[in-house]
Amino acid sequence: MPLVVVVGSQWGDEGKGKVVDFLTEKAALVVRFQGGNNAGHTVIVDGKKTALRLIPSGMLRPNTRCLLAAGVVLDPWGLKSEIEVLRASGIDVNPKRLGLAAEAALVLPYHRAIDQAREELKAVAKIGTTGKGIGPCYEDIASRAAIRLGDLADARRLKEVLGKNVEYKNQYLKKVLGKETIEFETLYNELLEVSEFLLPYLADVSLEVNKAQKNKEFVLFEGAQGTLLDVGHGTFPFVTSSHTVSGYAAVSAGIGPQKIDYVLGIAKAYCTRVGSGPFPSEDQGEEGDRLREIGKEFGTVTGRPRRCGWFDAVAMRKAIRLNGIDRLIITKLDVLNTFDRLRIVTSYSLDGKVLNEMPSSTQDLQRVKPVFEEFPGWKQDLVGVSNMEDLPKNCVDYLKRLSQIVDCPLGGFSVGPERSETVVTCEQLLGFSR
Ligand code: GDP
Ligand code: IMO
Ligand code: MG
Repeated sequence: MPLVVVVGSQWGDEGKGKVVDFLTEKAALVVRFQGGNNAGHTVIVDGKKTALRLIPSGMLRPNTRCLLAAGVVLDPWGLKSEIEVLRASGIDVNPKRLGLAAEAALVLPYHRAIDQAREELKAVAKIGTTGKGIGPCYEDIASRAAIRLGDLADARRLKEVLGKNVEYKNQYLKKVLGKETIEFETLYNELLEVSEFLLPYLADVSLEVNKAQKNKEFVLFEGAQGTLLDVGHGTFPFVTSSHTVSGYAAVSAGIGPQKIDYVLGIAKAYCTRVGSGPFPSEDQGEEGDRLREIGKEFGTVTGRPRRCGWFDAVAMRKAIRLNGIDRLIITKLDVLNTFDRLRIVTSYSLDGKVLNEMPSSTQDLQRVKPVFEEFPGWKQDLVGVSNMEDLPKNCVDYLKRLSQIVDCPLGGFSVGPERSETVVTCEQLLGFSR
């Protein structure tokens, strides 16, 4: 069985959680490899809705073990409360079913305070972050100041490192950002308390994943955010602070990159984005509003309305290239059911020139004009569709053309938020051979 990375191939919220949940029926391990509780993955099984932030969707299957790898940033209290909510809903989260990398950096209250204060103070060019402290935490990893989960095991060392960090962050909060400072003693005691809850979950993620790979088990890597939010390759600076692309799964989980067998990209049949930044296919008119209403495009983490627009094949070609996507799964097809006319962006125009590739300059990307190809809608319900042949002709034509324009085969689609409304057609995944 393969090692499969599932990535969002747009700006997030593509339905990664739902697809991962569907695929975990056969998975031994599901590994989250980046981001933190800025993510919100909604899974619906038999009418019961579960919103996950840090814990992989594999938790909904009783025989799957879930891991948070080294590249994840972990809010200790956020994770504890997520575990408690899952337990209250009848899901048995325990150290046999969830393992946390000792190397994962902790998101602490000063990270959140800095994230929120910076956004508040920016008059223009706000990123529109989730305010969860993700960026400041990744900064601490790069500057080697981060406190990592494993550090909680040594109270004396924790006190020393936390003391230095709080002192430094407080200077920054007070003098640069003009905000309230953090009380060291309270934070230290709260961390000691939460550490009793979290330390039993410590795991050697690299060892576990490598063993599973040797034993030919099915391992899924669950991406968070989306390719165009990657800190290096995305629409910088309007991005998150981690690498969201598939290659980072190997870095974060501590496996050789050649061990990854397969990359599955998840994309909506249209496109959304939360927060600021270029979005060439955005529709700020009536059709965009309809996509938002029908698709229920409101953020799971912040409740913000998501910006909506059409499927952008130019952006998708870049995502396919950056991740090495083998197959694309197209979600939320049903949201398009009532549209007379559908559109796909096939190229951009900039200063009179046709661009077939996404420019790397965000300033240029802000200025491009989308060039559309139009399609007739299918004007039909997709309830109960369980294979490609059952889809209306116009829907099949839309999907075939989409796949052709982005030059990537499809691996499935989905027609509703329920687990049972997901159709995966790539036999490569189910009985593996590339
Ligand atoms: P993720 O962050 O990529 O896991 O995606 P989110 O869970 O944030 O957003 C996707 C939303 O669309 C969730 O509310 C899902 O329940 C919902 N969803 C997923 N697939 C479909 C689909 O095929 N049709 C419809 N109507 N909703 C879907
Ligand atoms: P899932 O995993 C959509 C966006 C924020 C903001 C930018 C930076 O559910 O797809 P951050 O708090 O990460 O520093 O914010 O990234 N963002 C997401 N957008 N889905 C997500 O996660 C996101 N996580 C972060 O809106 O524009
Ligand atoms: Mg989401």
